[in-house]
Amino acid sequence: QTPVTQTAAKPAPTLPDAQTVTFVKHWTDRLFSFRVTRPVSLRFRSGEFVMIGLMGDPDPKTGKQKPLLRAYSIASPSWDEELEFYSIKVPDGPLTSRLQHIRPGDEIILRPKPVGTLVHDALIPGKRIWFFATGTGFAPFASLLRDPQTYEDYEEVIITHTCREAGELAYGAELIDSIRKDEVLAELFGEGFADKIRYYPTTTREESPKMGRITDLMRSGEVYADLGVEPLCPENDRAMICGNLAFNLELKAMLEEYGLEEGANSKPAQYVVEKAFLD
Ligand code: A2P
Repeated sequence: QTPVTQTAAKPAPTLPDAQTVTFVKHWTDRLFSFRVTRPVSLRFRSGEFVMIGLMGDPDPKTGKQKPLLRAYSIASPSWDEELEFYSIKVPDGPLTSRLQHIRPGDEIILRPKPVGTLVHDALIPGKRIWFFATGTGFAPFASLLRDPQTYEDYEEVIITHTCREAGELAYGAELIDSIRKDEVLAELFGEGFADKIRYYPTTTREESPKMGRITDLMRSGEVYADLGVEPLCPENDRAMICGNLAFNLELKAMLEEYGLEEGANSKPAQYVVEKAFLD
């Protein structure tokens, strides 16, 4: 037997919790999505997030490298073989300034500990679910829109997405289009499941078919008139919110005015909120 000694050759350093990038798509100069391999043991609920990142620069004094991690909503559904993420590119963001350059074959760090509040378990049964997103806050809904439970639990699924510019809607628009055309999903989820989806994209700083912040369109009643539905009420409506902080706070206050109560994993209720994390 060979004794293990201090002088034994060290294995080549590898990233902790490394996963391999399989696909990258740049949607605009500020947005990209990518897919990575999924750890075999990783179980998560659609809508949850994990910490992902890259190894940071060496510490100038010690030369040691620490992982640079950020919270990212998993954009793929829980049954998917791979994991998908949707990210902003912040020019001087410590992580995204580098992450935006990943290519298939590269490795990223992924801590396999999913958490989050945007899960079906945090809501009590209802008739209609509203997914309210701004910017990259669309990501958890990209997961939930591909989860069969969304269609088992609700008669109607309304997804609103507010972005500054029309190009920023592309990831969501294309995803919804692909869900509607997906014959495998139709077979799995039941024929006609996609007819439950009502997609309501809006822009605030560039011309598009529907302009304005979703909050303003709710206050004016325009969104209800456009969709032909009643304003939200605690009996019928459930909601999930994911966007920038100001949006989350404003919409949360509005939902409370409509009489909806915030839920949690431990105490399911009528709506839940999560921040779209920025670099
Ligand atoms: P606006 O252009 O009027 O600020 P950001 O890129 O800054 O995260 O914003 C994403 C989208 O969210 C933008 O269209 C922005 O509109 C909108 N937004 C920002 N704050 C709010 C808010 N408090 N309520 C509703 N929408 C908001």
